[in-house]
Amino acid sequence: MLLVVLTSSTSVMQQTRDDSLTQSSRSIPTAYLQGWAWFCGKRIKVNKDVLIPRADTEVLVDVVKNIIADCSNVRVLDMCTGSGAVAIALSEFAMVEGCDVCEKALAVARMNGVNCFQSDMFSNVTKKYDIIVCNPPYIKTNEIGLEDPGILHEPRKALDGGEDGLEFYRILSAKAEKFCDTLVLEIGYNQAKEVVNLLENNNWCNILVYEDMAGRDRVICAERARKN
Ligand SMILES: C[S@@+](CC[C@H](N)C(=O)[O-])C[C@H]1O[C@@H](n2cnc3c(N)ncnc32)[C@H](O)[C@@H]1O
Repeated sequence: MLLVVLTSSTSVMQQTRDDSLTQSSRSIPTAYLQGWAWFCGKRIKVNKDVLIPRADTEVLVDVVKNIIADCSNVRVLDMCTGSGAVAIALSEFAMVEGCDVCEKALAVARMNGVNCFQSDMFSNVTKKYDIIVCNPPYIKTNEIGLEDPGILHEPRKALDGGEDGLEFYRILSAKAEKFCDTLVLEIGYNQAKEVVNLLENNNWCNILVYEDMAGRDRVICAERARKN
């Protein structure tokens, strides 16, 4: 009897959960409906071709702003720029360009006034920058949408960090040193150890991890080793 009651109430709970998941994965994010989102106090145009900028990513901007405080003519590349939110937030403080693999995302970044170019990571990067800032896709392929089904409305290309979520950090830690002195990366809250290892294995130094407002690891900053 007890088993029956438990089984039926479990299935009711499961049904309710499935309904609410379906409901929440169906409901289109408000930012897409209204066509804009707030980021660092600025109104950023968005559509379904770009990730909706997140409050957590404001930490990435703050870290870069602290690094460049009191410096002038700092050159920054916002790699994986998407809507261009990070580039826009930094544009008062530095000369910022953006790049992204996705032409549709670049069209949105351009609507937001970002000077940007198409590039599959470093494929079309030709200049040197003081800082490369990047919020790459970092969710493990088979975990996309598990924590928050709502993100299934956002472009998969903006989310999918490969089998272990680290695909883009491998590229960044191996290749960025040719193009910048300082690398500032957003990471998933549970990726700090692995990303620090990647950076150390590629000879980056002075590696620092910063937390977000919730006290979770969110941003990593690293400097290129100086060669004699
Ligand atoms: C997590 S979103 C970040 C968007 C924006 N920077 C932000 O913070 O809101 C990642 C972005 O990386 C871009 N992307 C995915 N693969 C890429 C690649 N191979 N090269 C360059 N950009 C890529 C996606 O198109 C997407 O715009």
